[in-house]
Amino acid sequence: MPGLTVLIVGGGGREHAICLGLDASPSVGTIHSAPGNAGTLMVGVNHTISASDIEGLVSLAVELGADLVVVGPEVPLVNGLADSLRAAGIACFGPHAEGAILEGSKLHAKRVMQELGIPTGGCVVVEKAGAIEAALDSFKPPWVVKRDVLAAGKGVTVTTDRQQAHDALAAGLTSDGFVLLEEHLSGEEASVLVVMDESGYVCLPPSQDHKRVGEGDTGPNTGGMGAYAPAPVVTPAVFQRVVDEIVEPMHHHLRNQDVPYRGCLYVGLMIDSQGAPGVIEFNVRFGDPETQVTIPLISSDLAELLLACAEGRVSDTEVEFHSHSAATVVLASEGYPASSVTGRVISGSEVKIEEGEIRGFVHYAGTNFDSEGNLISSGGRVLSATGTAPEISSAISAAYEVIGCIGLEGSHYRSDIAFRAL
Ligand code: AMP
Ligand code: GLY
Repeated sequence: MPGLTVLIVGGGGREHAICLGLDASPSVGTIHSAPGNAGTLMVGVNHTISASDIEGLVSLAVELGADLVVVGPEVPLVNGLADSLRAAGIACFGPHAEGAILEGSKLHAKRVMQELGIPTGGCVVVEKAGAIEAALDSFKPPWVVKRDVLAAGKGVTVTTDRQQAHDALAAGLTSDGFVLLEEHLSGEEASVLVVMDESGYVCLPPSQDHKRVGEGDTGPNTGGMGAYAPAPVVTPAVFQRVVDEIVEPMHHHLRNQDVPYRGCLYVGLMIDSQGAPGVIEFNVRFGDPETQVTIPLISSDLAELLLACAEGRVSDTEVEFHSHSAATVVLASEGYPASSVTGRVISGSEVKIEEGEIRGFVHYAGTNFDSEGNLISSGGRVLSATGTAPEISSAISAAYEVIGCIGLEGSHYRSDIAFRAL
């Protein structure tokens, strides 16, 4: 029987990790990516169709006779890619537009959580400039101001400076007509990626992202500068609370919608000092760079899991994990996150470590080949160096050994990824 034809939508490190996971699956024949990157091109075929071109992606999937489409980013999901694919009879890993509102609207997500009694911070909606001061009075600092738009992590301001909070609220009001002021949750952040459909769900090993650009979690927010899994802050007792208090009620809610949710539910958590979890955000897709440290820990067939989810039969699927740890360190372009210098040649990325059970390798992100075949940078997050090993310390060392071999003028990376695990 010919293998499955799979189309992956997106072109970041997350999509390369999905691509490598699917490539290891005996049931997969060909892997196509749109638009993909240098890494996905090493494994399959890239198509120059943007991840937000819904019509173009559906036509491509039909033309390829795709058995499965795996959607990486949120924007096409919010814009109805899964709905259009399913209407064309193509299985899609990623929820329909209505399910994707959980990420598309933070206010919607908040209302769902409040209705279901899921632990999360309190929240007020500010709709008039005259209401700003009273709203600020109703929460203790630090203040958390969230615009209700898809802003790739840039729509959130967390500050102890009342004037800055006021300005963020006023700016959000001007651009969007309303803005959210949310209770600040303190503790340690963690992410749990849940592969979910109406039949059941599978939680992948909890991970921790490093969102700030600078060492010691300082400086501006980014898409994520590195991650590791499993994150020890999510102890078995904390994990059980996450399942009981968050994942179970969300699954019950989503499986009872008219169109069931089929894809990843990304649960962004704050774990307080007592081990109580609170939800910071839901995303409707795999995280980036969390995917780079969770997919390598799945020891069973990834294609089988994603296809089962797209077809609503997760509960019939056996999923197994390596008892290893993984760490990934992002290499970013000069100027990132404010800007990014791109088009520079990258050297040394073919490096691989294989020493017993220790592995080190590159997940490609904003990369391409120029007309002369040189590997060049094409985005803010260029690649990430990933290590996997029985011990987290060896996984971290492997990731740093790999990144130390890579040359890219002006690039930077954090030297303290996974410090909380040590
Ligand atoms: P989000 O885009 O909702 O993930 O927010 C970006 C970052 O802001 C999160 O990763 C947290 O570090 C921080 N953040 C968001 N909401 C809260 C909150 N309620 N309490 C504390 N920190 C928050
Ligand atoms: N790493 C955070 C995210 O994917 O949203």
